[in-house]
Amino acid sequence: MTLKFVVMSDLHVMPQGKLSMTLDTGARLEQAVDAVIARYSGVDFCVLAGDLADLGEPAAYERLQAIIARLPIPVHITLGNHDDRPSFLEVFGTGSIAETGKVDKVIDSKGHRIILLDSSEPGRVDGVLTPTQVDWLKARLAEAMDRPVIVILHHNANALHIESDDIRIIDADPFVATLKTHPYIRQVIAGHVHLTSTATWRGLPFTTLAGGHYSCTVDQPHIPMRRLTGPGQMAFVISDDDGTTVLFDDFIDGNAEIF
Ligand SMILES: [Fe+2]
Repeated sequence: MTLKFVVMSDLHVMPQGKLSMTLDTGARLEQAVDAVIARYSGVDFCVLAGDLADLGEPAAYERLQAIIARLPIPVHITLGNHDDRPSFLEVFGTGSIAETGKVDKVIDSKGHRIILLDSSEPGRVDGVLTPTQVDWLKARLAEAMDRPVIVILHHNANALHIESDDIRIIDADPFVATLKTHPYIRQVIAGHVHLTSTATWRGLPFTTLAGGHYSCTVDQPHIPMRRLTGPGQMAFVISDDDGTTVLFDDFIDGNAEIF
């Protein structure tokens, strides 16, 4: 069986009429939803990998909820550093809280296990996976030793060798060691950096997608980072017995720089 799903990240939705970094992020999400309906309405589900709302107000989550209601497929959600967990739960309900106390989730579909991890931590820009979450992850992996697993979370754990490496998952060692208890980790997919990347790191496959908000150019000490209006990007994941492919769909083009 072939599993197909889309991942959106870094939506940074603002309340109606407000912009983020000059961009109407709600309108951009509408374009993403239009793209899914036009091209991917037959996929199994959609994952939102955090930074759903730019400033975390309930009005932003209400706008998000109204926009994604147009998606003809299930939507599975976790949070990022821009999100406000109480505001999110106020709008989306408390049912999405796992026994970890965070917005973690397991999806079993077509011979795969997909695990969403909430790496947001109030007051922090970098990512935190608590010991409770790591234990929970280990248990969820142990239940699925016979099938491939794809992990999705907001923050990248791996080094991208860019300036923003200092806001990735802090102390990723327990996370990586836990992932290595499973023989078939197919992908670890994140957003956060507003940049497309693929990597192997400590023997595991890691991917980031640019997401729906502005995109960042590669920043290094001698190459200052620039923010571009596009692409608005989602990932299209196709997975079967043979392997897992991540395609990147730029539903918004655009290389204009934001000043
Ligand atoms: Fe973001």
